[in-house]
This record gives sequence, C-alpha cells and structure tokens, in this order.
Amino acid sequence: MRFFIKQIQALKRAARLILYRSVERDVVARFHKLYYHGRQRGLSWGDTYWLGTQVLKCPLDLWLYQELIQDYRPDLVIETGTYMGGSAKFIASIFDLVGHGEIVSIDINPREGRPDHDRITYVTGSSVDPDIVELVREMAKGKPKVMVILDSNHEKSHVDAEIAVFKDLIQPGGYLVVEDTHLNGNPIRDEFGPGPMEAVEEFLRSTNEFETDPAGTKFFMTFNPHGLLKRIG
Ligand SMILES: C[S@@+](CC[C@H](N)C(=O)[O-])C[C@H]1O[C@@H](n2cnc3c(N)ncnc32)[C@H](O)[C@@H]1O
Repeated sequence: MRFFIKQIQALKRAARLILYRSVERDVVARFHKLYYHGRQRGLSWGDTYWLGTQVLKCPLDLWLYQELIQDYRPDLVIETGTYMGGSAKFIASIFDLVGHGEIVSIDINPREGRPDHDRITYVTGSSVDPDIVELVREMAKGKPKVMVILDSNHEKSHVDAEIAVFKDLIQPGGYLVVEDTHLNGNPIRDEFGPGPMEAVEEFLRSTNEFETDPAGTKFFMTFNPHGLLKRIG
C-alpha cells in the first residue's frame, strides 16, 4: 500500500512539473511577443541605447555577452551586421573593462555617425563576399580565441553561408552566436520563412563540433533561442 501511495505522489509531482513548464513556456512566449512588437510603438528594442548609441538587441542578450567575454576572454569578435554600431560599442566597452580584445564589425551599408573606438574596426561589404572574408581571416590570424556573432541578413541561405565561411575560425571552447533564431515563429514573425533557427538546426545536424549552450536561455527570454553555439571539438 505504501508503495502505491509513493508511486501516486511521484506521478503527481511529475504532472505538476509538466504543467509548470508549459505555463512557463507560455509566459515567456507571450512576454517575448509583447517585447518584440513593442518596437512598432517606439519601445523596447527599438529604443535601446548603449552609452548613447542605438543597439538593436534585448538587454538580457547583451548581459549574456558580458558574461561570455568575462569568462572566455576572446581575442577577436567578428560581428556581421553593424547597423549603428551599438553592439560593437557595447562589446568594445566590455573589452575595455576586462582589458583585452578587439572587434571587427561588417556591414553591407556604410553609415554616418558610428562610434569611433580603438578596439573596433568597421568593414564595409557583404559578410560573405570572398574579399571581405579574406580580410577578416587575415585579422583573425594569430588570434586563438575568436567569437563570431551573426546579425546581418537573417534569411537562412545567408546565415548558412556565414556559418560556412566563419565556423573554422572558432577554436574548441569558443562561441558562434546565430542571432534572431526567434524569427519564423520561434516565437515571433511566423511569416518570416526559413531563417536563423532553421540554419542552426541544419548546421547542428551536419556537425559534431558544435552544440547549443543552454546558458543562452538562462534568462528565459532571448532573441537567440538555441543560437548560442559552443565549439566542443
Ligand atoms: C539587425 S541589424 C544589426 C544590428 C546590430 N548588430 C545591433 O545589434 O545594433 C542588421 C544589419 O545587417 C546589415 N546587412 C544586411 N545584409 C548584409 C550582408 N549581406 N552583409 C553584411 N551586413 C548586412 C544591414 O545593413 C543592417 O545594418
């Protein structure tokens, strides 16, 4: 009898946990949609600045970058998609605080008014243009700790091409961040079509060298679910 009571209690606990997880997922997805669409009202990620420069990110994701930089201490961050330079400036500021690192930020569109910083190099051109890739590879030479952040064109074919050209610059222990995996219904913009999430899924099916780092979702909401990839081999 005592055995059956214990079994029933264990089943109840398991059911409560399943219910809790599903409520949790729902709350996170609803807040994610509220936050994402807040930009249309001039709020949230459309009105976010790092030391005066606009940055198109969720602050929780920026905080995660701060922790990764503190722990991993990259020599070089390669960022695709500069926009106003806010994310490059954020990373350069953290590099200043830890006393190490530089960032190269690539954008197809030049823009006036991007912040000047000794640790930032801006490169104008497509992130998958062979000449640009060669230039960036030269900059990565002799730098064992490279971290890559993909935040340019979010169509799957482009993200696939970016992963293909930059992945081998990352050493075991290093990071590849595929941003905006939340597109195409994960949970926002159902209509987007194949994007970063689908590129990540296909990439992870093709390799044993990278895996999703669960730290990427530790703040519950991230614009990059399953997009923080760590090189393990
Ligand atoms: C989402 S914004 C980048 C936001 C920036 N990283 C931030 O967090 O503030 C995307 C940028 O990618 C650039 N872009 C689009 N296609 C590109 C390509 N093929 N190569 C490089 N940059 C591209 C756009 O010009 C735009 O500035």
